[in-house]
Amino acid sequence: MDIISTIPELRARLAQEARIAFVPTMGNLHAGHISLVNLAQQRGNCVVSSIFVNPLQFAPNEDLASYPRTLQADCEKLQEIGCDVVFTPDETALYPQPQDVLIALPEIADQLSGAVRLGHFHGVATVVLKLFNIVRPQVAVFGQKDFQQWHIIRHMVEQLALPIEILKGETVREQDGLAMSSRNSYLKPAERMEAPRLYKALQQVVQAVQGGRHDFAAMEAQTTQTLTQLGWQVDYVAVRSANTLQTPRDHDRDLVVLSSAKLGKTRLIDNIVFAV
Ligand code: PAJ
Repeated sequence: MDIISTIPELRARLAQEARIAFVPTMGNLHAGHISLVNLAQQRGNCVVSSIFVNPLQFAPNEDLASYPRTLQADCEKLQEIGCDVVFTPDETALYPQPQDVLIALPEIADQLSGAVRLGHFHGVATVVLKLFNIVRPQVAVFGQKDFQQWHIIRHMVEQLALPIEILKGETVREQDGLAMSSRNSYLKPAERMEAPRLYKALQQVVQAVQGGRHDFAAMEAQTTQTLTQLGWQVDYVAVRSANTLQTPRDHDRDLVVLSSAKLGKTRLIDNIVFAV
């Protein structure tokens, strides 16, 4: 496995590769990330993963400084599963000048997690487009865990006519249902015990909708109230069309219920895609 940290070296390494499958990450790799690399291996003959904690997608009050950085362990994991190339730029390699060219995005980027984390998806879309231009993959893999991120990237790729197929890997969970996340390590023991409730709450919404309920606003409010009573600070619980991320219309059959909520200082997100 080649570990490369500059753009010219990466371009030279990838120049002859015909079918590159790309998995961008911020490192601190867990089984969720690894499952995306495995999916990439089925779809490309050169798998590139990037590890870069992107300052552009963190608001000033967020956890950029404390975000877990475990580069050596990450490279060992990637080597073990047969990843071909890891791109590990530092900030000056990726942003030699302050990045003032940013991607403009549709309104959905300022809703849901975009309303909670101002500018977040503009930072994500900008770094992902930049990484796409550096790696020039045929296929790129994103996790369903960050459903809104996947939706926005897919939309960007479509609207900018980028010749990249965007795949979605399923959310990998701990045994108790908690979606794996680098941020789970911030949870205190009691919070870790409580954390699986978010997924359970979303499962209850899915069951209710599949059982015939359509009063989404009431269900969202009810779920928010329940979680709040149990000590969560809820950013949102939202039932949306899985195709547009807009409020479902009568004929929408493919739905997603998404949530973001904090336990103490740790913000967790999760979602379930389902059909009615
Ligand atoms: P990061 O949070 O490291 O996630 C990298 C990829 O792993 C994303 O596509 C994310 O959706 C996926 N992922 C995270 N947890 C997962 C889980 N439990 N199961 C399956 N996939 C999971 O998302 C980012 O980094 C950044 O925003 C990035 C796209 C790299 C841009 O900086």
